[in-house]
Amino acid sequence: MAGAASTTGPGATADRKIVAFCCRECAYAAADASANARTPLPPTVRLVLMPCTGRVSPLHLLSALAEGADGVMVAGCLLGQCHYREGNFHAVDRVAFVQRLLRSVGVEPERCRMFTMSAGEPPKFVAAVREMDRVIGGLPPLPRSEDGGGRKAASAGGASSLAAGEPLVAARGAA
Ligand code: FES
Repeated sequence: MAGAASTTGPGATADRKIVAFCCRECAYAAADASANARTPLPPTVRLVLMPCTGRVSPLHLLSALAEGADGVMVAGCLLGQCHYREGNFHAVDRVAFVQRLLRSVGVEPERCRMFTMSAGEPPKFVAAVREMDRVIGGLPPLPRSEDGGGRKAASAGGASSLAAGEPLVAARGAA
C-alpha cells in the first residue's frame, strides 16, 4: 500500500527499486525490442546486462537487495534454449537458493524471481517486469539499517557495483 507518510517503503512507485538481471541473448533482446516499440516499463526497474543468466550468482542478487533494491529478478532464455546450454538451469537453482536464504531470515522469497522468454517475446518480458513490480509494490518495506549499513556491508563483501541510479549497467565481468 502506498502510505502517504512512508518515504522508505516500496509501496510508492517512486520509492521502490527492482533490479533485473537480463541475459543478452533473449531477455535483454526482448527488452530492447519493447523499448524500440515504445512500450513503457515500470520506472522502478533497472536492467543489468548479463551474457547469460548462468553468470548471475547469489551474491549479485543478495548484494542488490543489500544495496537498496526491494526486489531482484533474473530474466533469461527459455529452459533448454540457453545459448550456453545450461546457464539458465544454474540460474533457476541459484534463485531457488536465494529464495530459501531469504525465507530463512524472515524476508519474503518472492523478492527474488526467475523469468524466461525468447528474444521474440517482448510482451512476455514486459509482463514479467510488470508482475515483479506489482508483487514488490504489495510487500511491506524491506527492513534496512538506519545508516545504510546494508550498503556498507555489501561493499565490504566485494559485491559488484549495481549503481541503483543508472538505468542500464553492463556487468559482463561478473563471476
Ligand atoms: Fe540466455 Fe543463457 S544465454 S540464459
